[in-house]
Amino acid sequence: MCGIVGYVGREKVKDLLVDGLSRLEYRGYDSAGFALYPKDDTANFVVRRCVGVVAELRKATQDVGQTETQGIAHTRWATHGVPNEVNAHPHLTGLTVLVHNGIIENHAHLRSAFQEQGVAFHSQTDTEVFARLIESNREWHVQKEKEASGKDFLDLPTERKRDIVLEALRQSMRQVDGHYAILFMVKGLPGYLFGVQSGAPMVVGRTPHGSLIASDLHALIRHTREVSFVPHGAIVEASAEGYRYIDPASGKASTPKFETINWSAQEVEKEGYEHFMLKEIHQQPLVVADTLSGRLPQEAGDPFIWDHPKAHEVLWKNCKKVYLVACGTAYYAAMVGKYFLERWARIPVEVDLASEFRYRSPILEPGTVLGVISQSGETADTLAALRLANEMGVTTFSVCNVPGSTIMRESSFQYPTKAGPEIGVASTKAFTAQLVVLAALAQDIARLRGFKADPAPFARLPHDMEQILARAQSYMDLGARLADKKTILFVGRGAMYPLALEGALKLKEISYRHAEGYAAGELKHGPIALVDERLATIVLGPSDDLLPKTLSNLEEIRSRKGYIIGIGEESNKNFKALCDEYIGMPATDWALAPLLYVLPLQLISYGLAKHLECDIDKPRNLAKSVTVE
Ligand code: G6P
Repeated sequence: MCGIVGYVGREKVKDLLVDGLSRLEYRGYDSAGFALYPKDDTANFVVRRCVGVVAELRKATQDVGQTETQGIAHTRWATHGVPNEVNAHPHLTGLTVLVHNGIIENHAHLRSAFQEQGVAFHSQTDTEVFARLIESNREWHVQKEKEASGKDFLDLPTERKRDIVLEALRQSMRQVDGHYAILFMVKGLPGYLFGVQSGAPMVVGRTPHGSLIASDLHALIRHTREVSFVPHGAIVEASAEGYRYIDPASGKASTPKFETINWSAQEVEKEGYEHFMLKEIHQQPLVVADTLSGRLPQEAGDPFIWDHPKAHEVLWKNCKKVYLVACGTAYYAAMVGKYFLERWARIPVEVDLASEFRYRSPILEPGTVLGVISQSGETADTLAALRLANEMGVTTFSVCNVPGSTIMRESSFQYPTKAGPEIGVASTKAFTAQLVVLAALAQDIARLRGFKADPAPFARLPHDMEQILARAQSYMDLGARLADKKTILFVGRGAMYPLALEGALKLKEISYRHAEGYAAGELKHGPIALVDERLATIVLGPSDDLLPKTLSNLEEIRSRKGYIIGIGEESNKNFKALCDEYIGMPATDWALAPLLYVLPLQLISYGLAKHLECDIDKPRNLAKSVTVE
């Protein structure tokens, strides 16, 4: 979704901003722009906007920004108003130039109130309405000031101008409804950026040369690892000297506390891979090892090592029911998690889509523990579900990848994944990291509740994953061969059912081909009607007690001339004999199979998307982090 970057300091700002925008491209966007505060304060803001990619903006603006050291920039993912140059941010209104991420829900009402006063708007955006509101409140304060001291805004001392802007902003915040982050500058007040985090994330970074603000860490980590996440509801004021957080209700200011993030700048580079997605697929053995590092029990029967061992023990010994709530790929991880928790720890688990959960008046009885799963830690529906559960008084936990993200901060317990920055829009390494945390958690809860737990197979995982990835090219080639199929069906049973859903989602997301995931036992209840030579079915069949049933389903497809790709144990000759193509996998425990079988699925989708020349890292219409409903 929309991305924001801002800087004020001593460095030339234009390239710094455009580079920051390119680090936010992965979030999904359709237009981009920036505004620079002119070196000569009598000149106008330098505002440039364009539809399309950041590279276009860079190319079209080579002539500007050689001297300025202060500015704001934005990538827009259209919500209100079509993607065009007029609707692109920043929006300049009077003395204020502003960028915005999120939604102002009462924008139509505010707009018509302004229009009744004769105010004209240039764009269809809610953003311009917000900028207008700040301006009109600022003008109101300036008018009062003029009556008292006879001085106009531009004649006032800097501190007074700053206080007027902050007053106008606080007033505006009381008048808007919605979830948003904004960043703006005011002409006549050089050296200051003002922002608000009200439901859309914002992080500030301290550098030796100035102050950076962005929607997420990716835009900052090339410059600094000293960061502070702007608290929900706070105003942030930045100058070259540092930051102040201001509570909009009381007007009280505080100095942010900074923390050091252990992500490296290298992690946001492709490092020789053609796409981030391919790099991230190959990082999975390392990600699994990092996520488990320091957590595995020494011996069977010993505890897993969590950050809050005592409270963890009390929580899970008393837990009666688990709710897992998430969106997209994280939702499929939650579905796999249900199999782990129910089979090992014998706790009933309900899994829900966050967008459904939050509006369904869910029943959360005492003893229920609600877990949210999220790569970004900022997905709007998932966050709302977490907040609802917190309000209802149940204990919450998160399985989340971004340190300091809102979901991590607002959940009572954290079981972090250590996947590092995931840039490819289609989630890969975050999914495997989520699975491994859920599996480890379920094993540990089983131990706490007196059931058999055997964490031994975890240690082999990175090795087995490496072995599978060594054959990456052959899976990609197989994907490319699917180009003439009209539909690709993914089927599996048990924990392979959610994996089938994830396989289909991955393929749809990046290749734009039609795919469906199905529980193998459900084939006869509908999808079998689709089967002909132009339908390919990918059958997920590890050698477990469900395999004979899955193979019967496979026979039904075969007898209707469907093309079959099997993914099963290397040694399983019977399964192989039934397939047109076969991917052999190492033998593994039932529960760890999803972590291995997902690898060829990701690579098949990647291979097909590459063959079809799709924009793999930034698929059309998709956003990495969905921060609006
Ligand atoms: C978007 C992304 C998906 C992701 C989903 C949930 O749709 O494109 O890859 O699975 O959001 O995101 P989260 O950050 O909460 O895991």
